[in-house]
Amino acid sequence: MQWRKKTVEDVDVSGKRVLVRVDFNVPLDEQRNITDDRRIREALPTIRYLREKGAIVILMSHLGRPKGKVVDELRLDPVAKRLSELLGVEVKKLDDCIGPEVERAVKEAKPGDVILLENTRFHPGERENDPEFAKQLASLAEIFVNDAFGTAHRAHASTEGVAHYLPAVAGFLMQKELETLGRLLAEPERPFVAVIGGKKVSDKIGVIENLLPKVDTLIVGGGPAYTFFKALGYNMQECIVEDEMLESAKSAMEKAKSEGRDLRLPKDIMVAPEVKEGVEVRVVPPDSVPEGWTGVGIGPESAREFAEVVKSAKTAVWAGPMGAFEIDAFAEGTRIVAEAFAECSGVTVICGGDTAAAVEKFGLADKMTHISTGGGAALEFLEGKELPGVAALQDKEG
Ligand code: 3PG
Repeated sequence: MQWRKKTVEDVDVSGKRVLVRVDFNVPLDEQRNITDDRRIREALPTIRYLREKGAIVILMSHLGRPKGKVVDELRLDPVAKRLSELLGVEVKKLDDCIGPEVERAVKEAKPGDVILLENTRFHPGERENDPEFAKQLASLAEIFVNDAFGTAHRAHASTEGVAHYLPAVAGFLMQKELETLGRLLAEPERPFVAVIGGKKVSDKIGVIENLLPKVDTLIVGGGPAYTFFKALGYNMQECIVEDEMLESAKSAMEKAKSEGRDLRLPKDIMVAPEVKEGVEVRVVPPDSVPEGWTGVGIGPESAREFAEVVKSAKTAVWAGPMGAFEIDAFAEGTRIVAEAFAECSGVTVICGGDTAAAVEKFGLADKMTHISTGGGAALEFLEGKELPGVAALQDKEG
């Protein structure tokens, strides 16, 4: 099973130079202030552990998509500042991730020091998973720790390539993510409920197909539901529908029917003439969207029904809000489902940045068992795909 990996506790890191891939791809505002530091905070246990063991901690991450070139706005300096504050020690931020200056800084470092290399994606070799680039990164250290679950679905030099040149193990965040999501797929306590929403059905269809035979109830709300409704023949007016996904939606519904699976769609939806503040809002059955209107959420009857199902679950996973929750007038359905997750006494797992943002908005984040730091990575894991950054790590014996 791919999620049982050796961890930082299974190797001797004392006094060693340890190269740690973290996912510090955090959102920044226009002034380059970090607007959500969850990914940095979640990396702290591994960094603290390594420092306590007297390792030299060499951190590397990407930020944004600079396409193999130096982009000053995507330098990691704001991250180094925040990490220094959180750790209470100075993090030495370097201006590159390979080369003579980096080698010198690593050589001069002492046990317990923390170095943050510059954005790995400033080099084209990162995304190309170039072995030479990977080798240069690997040459900085004696052990590789991957704690970047959020980037584990990318076969890049700093996530997969380096693992060919150094003993490669998981960090504590990676381990926590793999264990939580892995257990969900392999041995969930039942009833097991999945709630799938978000914007595009194409992002979620793989998850729907993989989870349908595994869960007791699968709820499809938010944007993906509109494509399912169109597949049932409803006129969805201006709701966002992906026509190329109609066949997949139809076959998921047929499969659910023929195999007796509990696949639920909203019975009522919230619609508006436009997705913006201050417009009229109506609740309608999904086959009666007014001409020229668009879907903005689930209706109150559906929200109540979904909430009951979630509350009685022993395992509940949620990927994608139930509508445009950023606008208060459209947020009710997502809020009711979020509260149900908060009230659920079973294991609750939140996947993806938008779902996490919704749970944060309603002040319920600390009521969840686990909020994944992975967006695309968590979805690919739930799709049952092997993540290259995970596959490259040493398996746990026994
Ligand atoms: C993410 O935010 O999902 C990860 O950091 C991966 O980023 P990417 O989609 O740019 O590869």
